[in-house]
Amino acid sequence: MRTTGVPTLSTIPGLDSAPTTHRTLLAWVHEVADLTAPQRVVWCDGSDDEWRRLTTDLVNVGTLVRLRQQPNSFAAASDPSDVARVEDCTYLCSKDEPDAGPTNNWMDPVDMKIIMTELYRGSMRGRTMYVVPFCMGPLTAAHPKLGVEITDSAYVAVSMRLMTRMGAMALEKFGDDAEFVKALHSVGAPLKPGQADVPWPCSDVKYISHFPEERAIWSYGSGYGGNSLLGKKSYSLRIGSVVARDEGWLAEHMLILKLTSPAGAVHYAAAAFPSACGKTNLAMLQPTLPGWKAETLGDDIAWLRFGPDGRLYAVNPEFGFFGVAPGTGYRTNPVAMRMIEQGNAIFTNVAVTDTGDVWWEGLTEQAPQHLTDWQGRDWHPDFAEPAAHPSSRFCTPIQQCPTLAPEWDDPAGVPISAILFGGRRATTMPLVVESRDWQHGVFLGATLSSETTGATDGEVGVVRRDPMAMRLFIGYHVGDYFAHWLALGAGADPAKLPRIFGVNWFRRGADGRFLWPGFRDNSRVLAWITGRIDGTADAVDTPLGAVPAAGDLDLTGLDADPGDVAEALAVHPGEWPAELDLIRDWFTTIGDKLPRELHDEFDALVRRLG
Ligand code: GDP
Ligand code: PGA
Ligand code: MN
Ligand code: MN
Repeated sequence: MRTTGVPTLSTIPGLDSAPTTHRTLLAWVHEVADLTAPQRVVWCDGSDDEWRRLTTDLVNVGTLVRLRQQPNSFAAASDPSDVARVEDCTYLCSKDEPDAGPTNNWMDPVDMKIIMTELYRGSMRGRTMYVVPFCMGPLTAAHPKLGVEITDSAYVAVSMRLMTRMGAMALEKFGDDAEFVKALHSVGAPLKPGQADVPWPCSDVKYISHFPEERAIWSYGSGYGGNSLLGKKSYSLRIGSVVARDEGWLAEHMLILKLTSPAGAVHYAAAAFPSACGKTNLAMLQPTLPGWKAETLGDDIAWLRFGPDGRLYAVNPEFGFFGVAPGTGYRTNPVAMRMIEQGNAIFTNVAVTDTGDVWWEGLTEQAPQHLTDWQGRDWHPDFAEPAAHPSSRFCTPIQQCPTLAPEWDDPAGVPISAILFGGRRATTMPLVVESRDWQHGVFLGATLSSETTGATDGEVGVVRRDPMAMRLFIGYHVGDYFAHWLALGAGADPAKLPRIFGVNWFRRGADGRFLWPGFRDNSRVLAWITGRIDGTADAVDTPLGAVPAAGDLDLTGLDADPGDVAEALAVHPGEWPAELDLIRDWFTTIGDKLPRELHDEFDALVRRLG
């Protein structure tokens, strides 16, 4: 980066009050300040005082509305053009194009840096530049995974405090020379002298760029969580998956759940579902099956490493939840409700009630008679559009989760005995299927598909392949990623590997209704899964794998039509020729790098289906 603009670095207040002697960090902060020309620099310490100051500022500028019904909680409404992760503007800038593979937009890193350096030049004028040190995963890890986000958004700074181990506690781990990921973010809306700010500054031009070889992230133009809270998708998955490949572990889009059976047997499961397909709900499951207990470790991201005993251990790198609001209510997810009601939450793009509380579709059966909708409009129940954006979010600290497992912060992680891959499919995929072995399980993950949701921009409801629910997050070639999964399995003791299952809570009847009640009743599926691991549950062998007969699931007290349950479990070979064509197309898209083993699995599936 070259320096041209004023003010020069020596005149920017706050720049030299750095609470660190880390040389690379200091040099980088100076370089960015020099390029982006902020009015002042603030080093975030993550204190309560700082939170109060920033949230008060955000209320004053109109970004946040203070809620009257919940302590220390706020609602934010984004610009209507900045409501989701922007897939088309997200880039993987590996040095060589083939390394990005067919699932990433690619641009040469040098070209991208030329474009973005010009965008960043002066982009923080009139704004405060926040320096946010953070750590992904436990601070007590042998090698804590550190990062620093530089941002000109106070909303990002306060959200980072909820989502990561942030501020002084992270900076302590930096010393003078610890490695860290550089994450640069600007909303791309500089202010001229005297120009009034808007509640949600952002830019029409957006780039969310990743430089995997450098382990760096440059984000510009969007304030929306998935594009701007760079510890989450950008660090923990896109950069994380590259580090994981190089170091022999896995960075995955998975929740982590602890299950205790009535007999006291403990199993840990990890589950990968695409965004808005049920991770947060499953992570906070309250089983309907008597005597079962479920506890939460993570709801979105898991880092999986083999332990000294040869088992696969999972750590949640995050420190908070960024959950889909619509559909969350006492009936579906009472745990999330109890977590939210403790306060200390930031909501984005939900509706606000006349008494200063939040509301979204599914929170209560009856909508209030009047709301201010997510776009600030007067809303009544007969209004044509939903009051909350379909991907509106709650953001809360993990420690408020009433079902948090005591071992959630253990740097060793928890040993995983089951991995679940699931998506939203109205047809073809049964409620649950057990893979035959690790390789077949990797095939299930590699061919995972789902109807698209509102969590990213683009059309909703279109079936597409979402391998391991990582389509948008794999930081290298998807074929190499599958090979990495296969190699990790091949190098492990098969008896110690997690068993892999496919699930689908979203199969529909001819009239469009869900065939399976889902939510808390998914505990019945989890009970069957642990039964398979322990050798106590029966199944029917189908071309797709082992599927329970209705009688193999514990359906005691289930409020569902037995015909629907049977249909949710059914494998219809007649539905499969079309599906096989889609898988064939997907494999063709991947090309030469698709591992031989997955071709073999495909051929075997075709044979079994007849
Ligand atoms: P995440 O984005 O993967 O964490 O998904 P969430 O758990 O936030 O759920 C996304 C949406 O799917 C919400 O509207 C939920 O109400 C809905 N959902 C979650 N689990 C189920 C389920 O088991 N059945 C049905 N029908 N919907 C579900
Ligand atoms: P989720 O996470 O929708 O998978 O919960 C946030 C995101 O993917 O943007
Ligand atoms: Mn996610
Ligand atoms: Mn979620």
